[in-house]
Amino acid sequence: MLGAALAGARIGITGLGTHVPERVMTNDELATIVDTSDEWIRERTGIRERRFAADDEALTDIALPAATAALTDSGVEAADIDLLICATVTPDMMFPTSSALLADALVMPKAAAYDLLAGCTGFVYAIAQAYGMLASGLSRRALVVGADVLSKILDWEDRSTLVLFGDGAGAVVMEPVESGGFLGFELGADGGGGEHLWYPGSGSRTFESPEALLKMNGREVFKFATRIMVYSAEQLLPTCGKTVDDVDVYIPHQANKRIIDYAVAKLGIPSEKTIVNVDRYGNTSSGSIPLALADARADGRLHDGALVLMTGMGAGLTWGSALMEWTNGRPS
Ligand code: UT7
Repeated sequence: MLGAALAGARIGITGLGTHVPERVMTNDELATIVDTSDEWIRERTGIRERRFAADDEALTDIALPAATAALTDSGVEAADIDLLICATVTPDMMFPTSSALLADALVMPKAAAYDLLAGCTGFVYAIAQAYGMLASGLSRRALVVGADVLSKILDWEDRSTLVLFGDGAGAVVMEPVESGGFLGFELGADGGGGEHLWYPGSGSRTFESPEALLKMNGREVFKFATRIMVYSAEQLLPTCGKTVDDVDVYIPHQANKRIIDYAVAKLGIPSEKTIVNVDRYGNTSSGSIPLALADARADGRLHDGALVLMTGMGAGLTWGSALMEWTNGRPS
C-alpha cells in the first residue's frame, strides 16, 4: 500500500518520549549464558549492549513513562487525547489490551485505544493509522506508542536470536500542524515469508512443538531486510515528489548494523544522515524507530523542516516507510 499524504491535511509529531529498562545486558554477559562472544556479536550485528526488562516489568511498565514523556513534551493534556494506538508484539496480555491499560493509567476517558500487531514495523503502521484517523477528522489528537519487551519471549538457549534483541519504548503525540508534517507512507506485508520469523503457540493455533518462543531463520530475514529497506524507500520518495538527496535524516529499523550499512550504500544516503543506535539497544522491535527518532533530536538533527525518512521491517513479514517534514511541534 502506497499513499502520498492527503492534500491539505498537515499532521505532524508534536511530542516525543522514550523509555528503556535500567538493566544493561552486555555481550560479555550473554556469553556466560550461550556459546557466543562479544567479538562475534559486534562483527555480525554491531550490537554492544541492550536493555532487558526486570522479571516484574511488563510492556506497559516501560511504555507508560515513554507515553508520559511524549505528552509532557507536546504540552497536550492526557484528557485531550482521543486515540491511543500501541504497537507491540509483547503486550502485558492479549486482553485487556496494553493500549486500554495505558489509556486508563494516563486517564484518557475520551480515547479509543487499540493494540496494533505488525512485528518490528508496528510503529510505522501505527503512525500511518493515526495519520489516517487525524486527516479524516475522526481524531483530533493521537498518542502512538511503539514498545516491546522481546526479552520475555526469547529462547535463552538459542544464541542465534538471544543476542539480537532488546527492550525499549517510544511514544509520539500526533496532531494537526501549521507546516510540514507527514508527506506519505508505504506499507506492505508478505505472509508467505512469515515462517522465517514467528512465535508459535502465541495464539489460537495449537502446536505440538516447538515451544512458544520467538523463532527466526536469520539468513532469510537478512535477505528480506536488505531488499525491502531499499525497495520501500525507493517506492515512497518519488510518490512524495522527493529524492534520496532531499532526505536530511534517515531512520532505518535498528536490527543489524550490516543491514543498515547495506541500505545506506544501496540507497546512496550518506551515513552522516543515518541514525544508528543498534549498538546500545539491539533490536527493540516496535520501540526501534521512536528510540532512534529521539536520538536524532538529541543530536540536534531535527531542525525545522528537516526531511525525515523512517523505514521499518520485521515479522509478518511486514515493512513500512514514512516520510515527514519535522515541525518542531507547532499545533495548528
Ligand atoms: O526485525 C527483524 C529481525 N531480524 C533481523 O533483521 C535479523 C536478520 N538476520 C541477521 O541479522 C543475521 O542473519 C544474523 C545476525 C541473525 C546472523 O548473522 P549471519 O552472518 O547471517 O550468520 P549465520 O546465520 O550465517 O551464522 C554463521 C555462523 C553459524 O555457524 P556455522 O554454521 O558457520 O558453524 C552460526 O551457528 O555463526 C553461528 N552463530 C553464532 N556464533 C556465535 C549464530 N549465532 C551466533 C552467536 N554467536 N550468537
